[in-house]
Amino acid sequence: MQYEDLIIEIHDKVALIRLNRPKALNALNERMMNELGDALYKFDADANIGCIILTGSEKAFAAGADIAAMADYTYPDTYKDNYITRNWEHILRVRKPVIGAVAGYALGGGCELAMMCDFIIASDNAKFGQPEIKVGVTPGAGGTQRLPRTIGKAKAMDLLLTARTIDAAEAERIGLVSRVVPADKLMDEALSAAATIAAMPTSVAMLIKDAVNRAFETTLTEGVAYERRLFHAAFGTPAQKEGMHAFLEKRLPKFEGL
Ligand code: CAA
Repeated sequence: MQYEDLIIEIHDKVALIRLNRPKALNALNERMMNELGDALYKFDADANIGCIILTGSEKAFAAGADIAAMADYTYPDTYKDNYITRNWEHILRVRKPVIGAVAGYALGGGCELAMMCDFIIASDNAKFGQPEIKVGVTPGAGGTQRLPRTIGKAKAMDLLLTARTIDAAEAERIGLVSRVVPADKLMDEALSAAATIAAMPTSVAMLIKDAVNRAFETTLTEGVAYERRLFHAAFGTPAQKEGMHAFLEKRLPKFEGL
């Protein structure tokens, strides 16, 4: 599939997907999100890829769902066809790690899409917010659900109800992003983190991602039991034999293809 709204780069075992609608600050529309789903599934199934980065431009990761496309939608349009965000959740079905590398605006659906990545590395010029209330709607891609789970109710209500935009430093302080780096270092940092992950055994990275995501869907007791099943499953992987024996033999492990 040829992409109109994405730019793809491959860096060894890392796939970099760049949202590319610069004139609209990467506003997320139906075509772009279909393309994103296609690219994500393709790399998830590619044995040569161990980690995926999702990024935007220096000015905008994404300024939200495309307001021009949806301004005249009616309730029946949106409800009947489950419109606007129905094709946004492909990213949640990706089993390999996905890093969000965010520079500039990550607003509304852009913030929600970033939160669907496994973790976010932000440029010091990044700005996060859920300003949907200012255009007369609620968030529609998990903002009211993922934000309180990530940053707590008080901060989430503040951002959602006031439409306040926060900078990268505040986003890091409240746990929305894992790292903040100078703008000109964002891609180096994201690629380096992704290469580190891609050099780990992919099968185990997938088990860890599965276990962490389970933490948001279940009780602590169930989650810990699930983790133990996956821990036991890890003993069925060649990565466990290689990792532990390499340690005992005082050599570096060879995880290629594992
Ligand atoms: N949808 C469509 N077009 C958008 C857009 C969006 N979400 N955000 C920006 N654009 C377009 C602008 O219309 C403008 O296009 P033109 O040059 O053709 O006029 C272009 O991108 C540049 O934008 P600005 O001139 O506004 O740039 P700025 O630097 O002055 O402001 C901004 C940047 C603060 C991000 C501002 O563009 C803005 O507030 N954007 C809207 C943010 C927003 O409300 N997002 C939530 C959308 S609703 C949603 O996402 C629902 C959901 O949960 C799924």
